[in-house]
Amino acid sequence: MSHFQSYFPDTGSVDMTDRTSALDKSHIERLTAMADRYPERRSALLPMLHYVQAVDGRVSPVGIEICAEIVGATSAEVSGVATFYTQFRRRAGGKHHIGICTTALCAVMGGDALVETVERKLGIQADETTPDGLFTLERIECNAACDFAPVMMVNWEFMDNMTPDKAEQLLDDLAAGRVVHSTRGPEITSWADTEAVLAGLDDGRADEGPSAGGPSLEGVRLAAEHGWTGVPGKDTK
Ligand code: FES
Repeated sequence: MSHFQSYFPDTGSVDMTDRTSALDKSHIERLTAMADRYPERRSALLPMLHYVQAVDGRVSPVGIEICAEIVGATSAEVSGVATFYTQFRRRAGGKHHIGICTTALCAVMGGDALVETVERKLGIQADETTPDGLFTLERIECNAACDFAPVMMVNWEFMDNMTPDKAEQLLDDLAAGRVVHSTRGPEITSWADTEAVLAGLDDGRADEGPSAGGPSLEGVRLAAEHGWTGVPGKDTK
């Protein structure tokens, strides 16, 4: 009997035995300020948990308890939120998060080959972290960048139209500490930095890179070239 392989493996619950945390008074004040911005304090939980990840590298039990206290929820409720979304880590991961899209289009365009290349290069499987703590690898679902397939994300920055050779070079550059830019412009720093941005902190780099690439705008270009317009009588503004 064969089994369909799921790419949503059971990643387990939050490791409540690991009580290590770098959250201090200033971090708690910032978390409290996040909750203060919402009429319903628990509405702030997603950015708050991203902030916990930026500081602790994961949704730590201490972070869960602090968030629960601030928003007036139970630890179980906060843990339930943290384990519902795949962007929240239950265990510490690497400095760089490598996400490779293996949804249909990216898969047929080479996503699976990218995964094999990166697994071999790093000596780990998907959902694992290298022993030096530098890279965590994950298969990810469609990132709405199918026109640039196959797509690889590094700390949620796009690396478009990847090939196995380009992926190996990218990993070499990151491991050597060389400056690496997303194919869309922004410099790639670390997963923790991205988590701080997802928590709502301004890193001053919002306008780096284009807002839309050529392939995404190809339909607009073709329409303009051929004089195509919307359906007559319909408001296309
Ligand atoms: S299928 Fe990979 S970005 Fe859409």
